[in-house]
Amino acid sequence: MSTSFLGTSATRNHTPTANRPLRDGAFGHAIHLVCRECRATSELGPFYACQECFGPLEIGYDFPRLTRAQIEAGPPNIWRYQPLLPVPTDIASSPNMEPGFTRLLKADNLARELGMTSLWVKDDSGNPTHSFKDRVVAVALSAARELGMEVFACPSTGNLANAVAAAGARAGMRTVVFIPADLERAKVITSAVYTDSLVAVHGSYDDVNRLASEIAGEEDGWAFVNVNVRPYYAEGSKTLAFEVAEQLGWRLPQQVVIPVASGSQLTKVDKGFTELVRLGLVEESPVKIFGAQATGCSPVSAAFKDGRDVVRPVKPDTIAKSLAIGNPADGPYALDVARRTGGAIEDVTDQEVREGIRLLARTEGVFAETAGGVTVATLRKLVETGQLDPEAETVVFNTGDGLKTLDAVAHLVGPAATIEPTYAAFTATGLA
Ligand SMILES: Cc1ncc(COP(=O)(O)O)c(C=O)c1O
Ligand SMILES: [Zn+2]
Repeated sequence: MSTSFLGTSATRNHTPTANRPLRDGAFGHAIHLVCRECRATSELGPFYACQECFGPLEIGYDFPRLTRAQIEAGPPNIWRYQPLLPVPTDIASSPNMEPGFTRLLKADNLARELGMTSLWVKDDSGNPTHSFKDRVVAVALSAARELGMEVFACPSTGNLANAVAAAGARAGMRTVVFIPADLERAKVITSAVYTDSLVAVHGSYDDVNRLASEIAGEEDGWAFVNVNVRPYYAEGSKTLAFEVAEQLGWRLPQQVVIPVASGSQLTKVDKGFTELVRLGLVEESPVKIFGAQATGCSPVSAAFKDGRDVVRPVKPDTIAKSLAIGNPADGPYALDVARRTGGAIEDVTDQEVREGIRLLARTEGVFAETAGGVTVATLRKLVETGQLDPEAETVVFNTGDGLKTLDAVAHLVGPAATIEPTYAAFTATGLA
């Protein structure tokens, strides 16, 4: 038993790496951890809280010179951006899920319906376990391996459970995955199929998260992807920004709409765009970043609308279970990004979430899970309320697959007719 993951000076020497030094280049061009509050730096390791102020840590780099051509010559997955991630140069050759480089769809039908000029859907349902979580988990897996940790674990609202269980299986690591007991059946099955250690907890996601933090403090060698290796994990979301820019022909969109649970993805997409500009890979141009929440769990949206800096925790009650984090770790940073870039955080009702799923399916042939329904419905609301410019080029993120949340729309859709196998019966339906 130890508290080795807390990153305090008293425990810094007792880490899972103590018996096994880090190999050279274990974290690529990452050079240290940086506190997001006081900017104090500390060495790379399984730490997530600042020793000075307990603020959250993120990764700092000494980036190499990098050209578009070098990136384009890389593999068709997130490892093409290896120099911009805290992973070693040989990352592509170790067993992993190879997520990313998902399609960017020009969404003309949806644009027309919403009265917009130029709209794209970044469709992350095409990842190996059908959500954007495969990106963050792939980077966390690399960190866990380099740090010599033995158990790959997470608290999850569902999609992360799928991604951790699958990636751990592929890497031959023991996985232990914690979910709220009331999760959608499909998400339970699509996690349990990969692992014998799925733990359903009576309580909300926030309860599960607290339990995970406690276990991380007690057990040596456990990598909780979104707790004690969170700084590495979070960097994976930058690849969404990298891909959008590359797929647009190496330029930035003017507006993006992103779902918010913990708020990590939104803040890292902003970081990704900023890094591309800093490296001269795209021309600098403003990107307004908008966040999307379900009204039944909208602590960040509420703070945005009230003009508060403090995100007050809520008890979630929404069909968008993947976004049901009542106490979001990165909520204040997501607020900052939306305000700084001239975006907004908005929320939509469960009814609007269902309509959002149907709207995207009907117009673009993309079946989103409830998180995508939240995001598309929020896009519609942002246009209708004049918060988002319908003439500016916009990318909306679909981060998960509708097959995992069938119940959200099961009662709304079905056959137009059920008939005998005769031509007469068919013509009688009026569908001929
Ligand atoms: C499908 C989907 N989209 C978006 C998110 C939000 O991610 P974040 O916690 O980084 O805000 C989640 C989180 O679980 C998710 O499952
Ligand atoms: Zn600090």
